[in-house]
Amino acid sequence: MDFTGPVGGQQGEGTPGRPQEGLPQPPDSSALMQECLQQFRVTGAQLQKIQASLLASMEQALRGQASPAPAVRMLPTYVGSIPHGTEQGDFLVLELGAKGASLRVLWVTLTGINGHRVEPRSQEFVIPQEVMLGAGQQLFDFAAHCLAEFLDGHPVSRQALQLGFSFSFPCHQTGLDRSTLISWTKGFRCSGVEGQDVVQLLRDAIRRQGAHSIDVVAVVNDTVGTMMGCEPGLRPCEVGLVVDTGTNACYMEEARHVAALDNDRGRVCVSVEWGSFGDSGALGPVLTTFDHSLDHESLNPGAQRFEKMIGGLYLGELVRLVLVHLARRGVLFGGRTSPALLSRGSILLEHVAEMEDPSAGVARVHAILQDLGLSPDTSDAELVQLVCAAVCTRAAQLCAAALASVLARLQRSREHQALQVAVATGGQVFEQHPRFCRILRETVMLLAPECDVSFVPSVDGGGRGVAMVTAVAARLASHRRLLEETLAPFRLSHEQLAAVQALMREAMAKGLRGEASSLRMLPTYVRATPDGSERGDFLALDLGGTNFRVLLVRVATGGVQITSQVYSIPECVAQGSGQQLFDHIVDCIVDFQQKQGLSGQSLPLGFTFSFPCRQLGLDQGILLNWTKGFNASGCEGQDVVCLLRGAIRRRQAVELNVVAIVNDTVGTMMSCGYEDPRCEIGLIVGTGTNACYMEELRNVAGVAGDSGHMCINMEWGAFGDDGSLDMLSTCFDASVDQASINPGKQRFEKMISGMYLGEIVRRILLHLTSLGVLFRGQQIQRLQTRDIFKTKFLSEIESDSLALRQVRAILEDLGLPLTSDDALMVLEVCQAVSQRAARLCGAGVAAVAEKMRENRGLEELTVSVGVDGTLYKLHPHFSSLVAATVRELAPRCVVTFLQSEDGSGKGAALVTAVACRLAQKTRV
Ligand code: G6P
Ligand code: BGC
Ligand code: BGC
Repeated sequence: MDFTGPVGGQQGEGTPGRPQEGLPQPPDSSALMQECLQQFRVTGAQLQKIQASLLASMEQALRGQASPAPAVRMLPTYVGSIPHGTEQGDFLVLELGAKGASLRVLWVTLTGINGHRVEPRSQEFVIPQEVMLGAGQQLFDFAAHCLAEFLDGHPVSRQALQLGFSFSFPCHQTGLDRSTLISWTKGFRCSGVEGQDVVQLLRDAIRRQGAHSIDVVAVVNDTVGTMMGCEPGLRPCEVGLVVDTGTNACYMEEARHVAALDNDRGRVCVSVEWGSFGDSGALGPVLTTFDHSLDHESLNPGAQRFEKMIGGLYLGELVRLVLVHLARRGVLFGGRTSPALLSRGSILLEHVAEMEDPSAGVARVHAILQDLGLSPDTSDAELVQLVCAAVCTRAAQLCAAALASVLARLQRSREHQALQVAVATGGQVFEQHPRFCRILRETVMLLAPECDVSFVPSVDGGGRGVAMVTAVAARLASHRRLLEETLAPFRLSHEQLAAVQALMREAMAKGLRGEASSLRMLPTYVRATPDGSERGDFLALDLGGTNFRVLLVRVATGGVQITSQVYSIPECVAQGSGQQLFDHIVDCIVDFQQKQGLSGQSLPLGFTFSFPCRQLGLDQGILLNWTKGFNASGCEGQDVVCLLRGAIRRRQAVELNVVAIVNDTVGTMMSCGYEDPRCEIGLIVGTGTNACYMEELRNVAGVAGDSGHMCINMEWGAFGDDGSLDMLSTCFDASVDQASINPGKQRFEKMISGMYLGEIVRRILLHLTSLGVLFRGQQIQRLQTRDIFKTKFLSEIESDSLALRQVRAILEDLGLPLTSDDALMVLEVCQAVSQRAARLCGAGVAAVAEKMRENRGLEELTVSVGVDGTLYKLHPHFSSLVAATVRELAPRCVVTFLQSEDGSGKGAALVTAVACRLAQKTRV
């Protein structure tokens, strides 16, 4: 193609082959020569300015403040660590875009042994010009064809082929195998690819080709391949630098500095894409007229301005433009040009490199110029060498300035004074040009004297590094599959939940009729929610949740006032003898009375006792069985009120008037019912789980009376103890159950409540570790300890406001040394377990609400649920998931959830107040 020279206004000159005799000889060709070379000189001050400006652009892009024409892009690559050298396996690598118009296929074997290398097999294919500029599909079909040809020609294993795709153009990656091309560079301009996922395009082409089954596992920029393939040496290799047809670098950045990432723990490799630096004018002072002409004539005018001063695709062309200019000025070749010299692309990097190579000598320069149809004399050859040197020296210096800004960035992000780092270098400019690397090194030393940098040539042109990333990606993909398989049984479908709801309805009906059922449906003798006329001072006890509390509840015209104190129940007491437990309770009451100045008064007492009791009246409750880790002997089968009164007697000197025993669900319902008369369901999701609701008395077998309502304590924690939920139970549930103090009991509770979720998570984590999915397969002692993983961690870990790095910190506090990938998986495990719990709980509430609606023969039921419990209250998503599930399964019920603020002690006092009010009425 014609090129009319770098200096404008000379139309008509320089037609190929046109005799040049008529041109005036310049008065001083040496001055013209100097003037021309001078344009390519970059001063130290200019280099420093470029370095500073590039660093500023890098940091701006990291912060996500991209200008409309970004100077550099800073693209996260999803490569999170430098290789540890243990990666192994056989990988297919496809390189597109690094070597200009050729594409390379490699077969790389990683042995997993540091320093042990197997020579890769490779084959290079020339991409026809029309393919580089044609339709995208054609390019990817060509790539798929090359892969097939390579595989057909090489005796390599055909099983489970895993491919790493080295695609060296600016791309937005959203995963290790998802990458959208931003724009073509370096002489490629295929239609329909920009804005598309290039991995998908390659997969589609491989499928169309149909000959081989190849899984595209990872996509990698050439700089990343270069860095990752670097043999582990004395210092970490944390920078990859490529000067091939184009130029770019990548380095390991602290993830927390990359605004585009939500993972802010650890490091991530960032591709700088510095080729586009200066697109917005920053390079102004160093750009020559030749640079402008080259840009103008390129496929992407205005773009990649920095790359066009450094990349191997452009160095030969810059030399050619200068030679044309000098020939026209009569400085070279006796003022003659040739058709070849006037054709774009006739001087290649390899020519420039050879002409500068002192070992090749001037004879080689002559030969190259003669091949271009020129007749150089001795001085021409020397001058041409000077031109080549000027162009390439500038390229190396500019590249050094850019590298110096990367080093400065690395130093800043590490907060290190002095940096010791290895830079892996790759690309044909390094390979072919005799002085490039030396000039680069020397300039870097001047620009970044505080950095101790060693340059390490890349292995296999980066192919090995691509294979490394592919190995990591393949491992991650297989881990993900195992994780998904493990968690699949926790993800309940609508049908499964509807089945749980139906089973619960059935069990409720049977329980109410007094037939064998895992739901006991215990009458509570609470017949009405408070009406607001209750008055007086009451004592309340609250036993069975996280805290044991003694309360003074004053119910007055202005509302309810509560004073309370929390006492601990040591595990040895909870699991000791009944007498010990109840003596301890009375001691706490006495202490409370003394502190409140209530000694000697006999206030009516309501006892929230959050365990299954068969009640025979309001103040009689026979403990059926302990739950939630309580196991005090001699209590099951006994009336709890009698046990308490016995302890009061033993303590003498105290008088207490126990009026009512109340389950926490009932206390919660009553407490919320004081504010909202529609509150007819009580729900607890805390240490344990349970629900109560207002049932028609006529449906309750064993209690006299046919009209009115009675609150039924469902004791739904035991739902499924007859095996009816076995189809949902996972091996983790089974092992949690087996290790508990009540195996086979409270099966529904063990899938839902706070006492067990952390333990389920812990067991899943152990399983994933044994599969090698977590913690690199290393069994961690701390994780072997039962109950080490508290349910409150689930709430903390799943909190939206927490970044992944905080998740990691929580787990590290637990003594679990994990990577970002591990942290993400732990989070997913927590989510799966808590979501199942919330959905099951929602299915239960839906069953209750629907029963109430049917009981009352209503088209639509509006009802409120009073809720309490640490899991429900602390977990960031539990409550909304319960509500969503209820809407899904009971569409004809409008269910509102009210969180109880005062605990069920207040409810117990209200039940006591109602009882006292009714007792007074009967006395009157
Ligand atoms: C309530 C009660 C407790 C009850 C608890 C459930 O408000 O006052 O007695 O058992 O909530 O929550 P927890 O998470 O403590 O088991
Ligand atoms: C591309 C980069 C690549 C570099 C070196 C540039 O044109 O935009 O992604 O790393 O060339 O091949
Ligand atoms: C008990 C219930 C109680 C629930 C919530 C279960 O273990 O059996 O009576 O309501 O925990 O505290």
